[in-house]
Amino acid sequence: SAELNPTLLALDWLLGVWESDEPGEGSFSSIPPFRYNERLHFSHVGQPVINFMFNAFHAENKKPMHRECGFIRIQPGGNRVAFIIAQNSGLVEIEEGDLTGQQLTLHTHALARTSFAKEPHVQQISRVFQLRPDGKLEQTVSMAMEGGPLMQHLHITYRRSS
Ligand code: HEM
Repeated sequence: SAELNPTLLALDWLLGVWESDEPGEGSFSSIPPFRYNERLHFSHVGQPVINFMFNAFHAENKKPMHRECGFIRIQPGGNRVAFIIAQNSGLVEIEEGDLTGQQLTLHTHALARTSFAKEPHVQQISRVFQLRPDGKLEQTVSMAMEGGPLMQHLHITYRRSS
């Protein structure tokens, strides 16, 4: 396997495979609350880029649900981080934010969707990844629809699986 590109050292705590610890909690004002499981893969091939895949499954019937994949880049010599993301719902996105220790806070920087995407259209996404002192990874995702407030959609914790 390739040696880690030194630009990625500050993000090495993300690398590997993570499994939801207990089902994640999904919510939004317009939908009934739901539970899901999710597996995250973060890998690299020696480039100054992390490759990622997030695959979510229904907590009870295990059917595939939301999926997203993409690339993570970090500003050379800085702490600015960009996620370049494609989602199976037809959304593509760049989220950017700052790395502080082992916490990443990201906000939508650019967003596009298919011409036939169903409404309501999401306008803004914010998420926080945090490696907790107990070794678990936590992700919280909030979103805002056109003209609506930013509200939490997802909260989940993961344990390292490899
Ligand atoms: C609903 C966005 C991740 C499960 C929705 C809706 C939007 C959305 C815009 C429609 C809300 C409405 O109808 O008012 C997103 C975005 C995500 C994301 C931007 C990632 C950044 C996930 C994940 C799951 C999930 C990881 C896990 C299974 C659901 C479910 C619904 C929903 C079950 C309600 C039923 C449906 O509309 O399909 N999401 N979502 N979402 N989302 Fe997400």
